[in-house]
Amino acid sequence: MKPLNRRRFIETAAGAAVMTSQAIGPWIRAQDKPGKQYRTALIGSGWWGMNILRVAIEDGSVDVVALVDVDADELEVSADEVESITGKMPAMYRDYREMLEKEKIEIAIISTPDHWHALQGIACIKAGAHVFVEKPTGHTIQESRAMVKAAREHERVVQVGMHRRIGPHHVSGMKFLKEGGAGEIGMIRAFAHSGGGPEAPTPNSPVPPNLDWDLYCGPAPLRPFNKRIHPGGFRNYLDFANGILGDWGVHWLDQILWWSDEKHPRKISSMGGRPIKGPVVLNEKEQTSDSPDHQVVTYEFEKFTAVWEHRRFAGNEAEKSKVGCYFYGTKGTFHMGWRDGWTFYPAEGGEIIHEDPKFDDEKDGHNVPPLWRDFIECIEQKRLPVADVEIGHLATNMSLLGMISQKLGRGVEWNGETETFPGDEEANKLLRRDYRAPWEYPV
Ligand SMILES: NC(=O)c1ccc[n+]([C@@H]2O[C@H](COP(=O)([O-])OP(=O)(O)OC[C@H]3O[C@@H](n4cnc5c(N)ncnc54)[C@H](O)[C@@H]3O)[C@@H](O)[C@H]2O)c1
Repeated sequence: MKPLNRRRFIETAAGAAVMTSQAIGPWIRAQDKPGKQYRTALIGSGWWGMNILRVAIEDGSVDVVALVDVDADELEVSADEVESITGKMPAMYRDYREMLEKEKIEIAIISTPDHWHALQGIACIKAGAHVFVEKPTGHTIQESRAMVKAAREHERVVQVGMHRRIGPHHVSGMKFLKEGGAGEIGMIRAFAHSGGGPEAPTPNSPVPPNLDWDLYCGPAPLRPFNKRIHPGGFRNYLDFANGILGDWGVHWLDQILWWSDEKHPRKISSMGGRPIKGPVVLNEKEQTSDSPDHQVVTYEFEKFTAVWEHRRFAGNEAEKSKVGCYFYGTKGTFHMGWRDGWTFYPAEGGEIIHEDPKFDDEKDGHNVPPLWRDFIECIEQKRLPVADVEIGHLATNMSLLGMISQKLGRGVEWNGETETFPGDEEANKLLRRDYRAPWEYPV
């Protein structure tokens, strides 16, 4: 199949979006910026993928040669936007394998649902591309490890989208903690709370004509299409992601690894469920999501204990901060937040210390621009990036270990060196999953 140019795309995708007539320019043309412009493709041109791509274009380091998405409408709208910013229409593809064959890209940005990250990441690395991949680095631990291995074998730079490793208030907060500002820390509580409530099943619907649902599901089971899943909703379906723990959890559990320089916990125990959202439903007529509506995970490290908490109900201001991490130390409590920056509350009274956040992207409140710059500089200087794939893998493991304990309904012991659960075959089986044919689990 040929790459889809705009006209061909509209011819082939029944019901595709009508072409938009956007105002063109002023263009950010790659050739007007100093430095090399890398042949770049975005795989997964939804909300977050386009956020990253806009940053990359603004940075001046990319020549956007292709967009890939299984949703023809997303693809069309995104390609139009790229053209309106750069003056150049990228080629459009549904299937990343075909894109990799045709385009000889130097950089891939991967922002698909989580169950694709490792598989697509590895394919891009093997095709010779440096990769900016979204977190988590895998849907299961062994595929994530396989991506680390591929990155090292092929000597490619792989940056994981963990911008909380480079955001200014995170960097200054970590300096404060590592210099002993909060004293000796014995416990950390990371959390993400949001609103919500009971969930009634939503009727399944025919697959929209613009969507290749089979290729969306890919290695995951081919479940009936439901509008709650796409776009964005896949996070709450365990076939495609790992709920809030696999989403927000990666960012905040990573702060614990960053602060402690630890690589992995020794024991993990999760409790939680769906008392508020209600039972999981999945049949030919209707379905619900299936991730826990709340979860409490304890992680035992050698010198401290960490706790993860999330809740998808009772979202309110009662606890002030909805996402973040509390570090409890002998000198006081340190709160690492998001839009609320960081704050230190001394144990013996005294002055509260606070630092506001600084975002390069005020609207979304993130720091993708410095993360992208670091990625490019690492390609040029042949060094490891600030959110290197190994760092992303270890943070992803924190989330996935919690999910394994949750699925087993009991605690587990983890050997982080061998990445196995010693003598626990039931748990070891959950380090990977069976892929739907013809997809093959990466090793
Ligand atoms: N780092 C961060 O702060 C941050 C913030 C938001 C999202 N994310 C991550 O970004 C990823 C995407 O999230 P989103 O909210 O943009 O979701 P989304 O649903 O808006 O976008 C995902 C896109 O991927 C497409 N897709 C699905 N299967 C595909 C395939 N096989 N090939 C190509 N395209 C495919 C979908 O059609 C969709 O357009 C997630 O992994 C999420 O965790 C990270």
